[in-house]
Amino acid sequence: MAQFRTLDQLDVAGKRVLLRLDLNVPVKDGRVTDPTRIDRSSATVQALIDRDAKVIILSHFGRPDGKRVESMSLRPIAEALGVALGGRKVGFAEDCVGPVAEKAVAALKKGEVLLLENLRFHPGEEKNDPDFAKALARLGDLYVNDAFSCAHRAHASTEGIAHLLPAAAGLLMQAELDHLTKALETPQRPVAAIVGGAKVSTKLDLLGNLVRKVDLLVIGGGMANTFLFANGIAIGKSLAERDMAETARSVLKKARDAGCDILLPEDATVAAKLEPGIDSRTVDINAVPPDQMILDVGPRTADAIARRLEGCRTLVWNGPLGAFETEPFDEGTARLAVKVAELTRQGRLLSVAGGGDTVAALGKVGVVNALTYVSTAGGAFLEWLEGKTLPGVKALQDAAKKG
Ligand code: 3PG
Ligand code: MG
Repeated sequence: MAQFRTLDQLDVAGKRVLLRLDLNVPVKDGRVTDPTRIDRSSATVQALIDRDAKVIILSHFGRPDGKRVESMSLRPIAEALGVALGGRKVGFAEDCVGPVAEKAVAALKKGEVLLLENLRFHPGEEKNDPDFAKALARLGDLYVNDAFSCAHRAHASTEGIAHLLPAAAGLLMQAELDHLTKALETPQRPVAAIVGGAKVSTKLDLLGNLVRKVDLLVIGGGMANTFLFANGIAIGKSLAERDMAETARSVLKKARDAGCDILLPEDATVAAKLEPGIDSRTVDINAVPPDQMILDVGPRTADAIARRLEGCRTLVWNGPLGAFETEPFDEGTARLAVKVAELTRQGRLLSVAGGGDTVAALGKVGVVNALTYVSTAGGAFLEWLEGKTLPGVKALQDAAKKG
């Protein structure tokens, strides 16, 4: 991958550093329910504080669509960020551009931290409007992007601004790219991918890209039903995109041509509907009753995946194997998570997972920290797996080329 500048290559002491973070965290009743993104962003903030920078943080929050929406203010996040920094004061400015922001920035001293209001209160952010990018750039001397999870957006704060100031990647951005590169660009082989989730249609590009890159592709979740159906297997009342059968067959063919093995469920946990504690049973994949739906992989499938992973050196994982939010249909995903954690701990597997559902499933089993790397990104992680260029990353690479 083309290079970008890192923090170590910027002289930040006494400088105003515009730091793009992704503080778009889940909040309920004004409280942050999962501070992972804040916690993982704090290392770069701390590094800048330690180097006597004036730290000015840019972020979006939610989708206010270019206007001020009070419930999407970043103000409560300033406090949460302060906590993540060990009780440090984080200032807040009511706007991210213009006189209010300029005044707050001018008052900032070395080693102080200021959070600016939600970038998406201005329509110029998502439009990547050059004037809005300039208004942001005026507030700083240097730009650091630590928001890998926003790198799939070509917005003013992730793309435009990187062309206007000396730009570098932050520590989290670096870590994300480093692990994704190790997992997919220069992996130790054999490399496996596990892809689950509901729909083939949303992950078509991803499957097409992965079959060219990995040695083994495990397909689980609702999308496996579409593949089973395409293979002529009766799937009863299971959710599936039956009109995507042809597409599924073409993915299978592409895999065969590329020498990528595909692993589909050989047994399944079925029930009449998706409901907690409902009567369920395990059946062979060729014996799904017409009035039942597939809600998880069965134990034989879980064992088969585990055995195949024992022969792999690298794993990329996106999407649960079953309807993991509803017990007992979490079992296949949970067993897999435990196995991946064990192989990783033994040093036999480099494991990288990402996407909201996957991270939630790993959290439920308590193994998030046992994997080699768990990405904070959802959409950006998927687009990376699709093989797309991420505008936020490309802008950093272009900036480094310009010198
Ligand atoms: C995310 O949570 O996926 C990122 O913060 C990007 O947000 P967006 O999907 O609203 O662009
Ligand atoms: Mg998103």
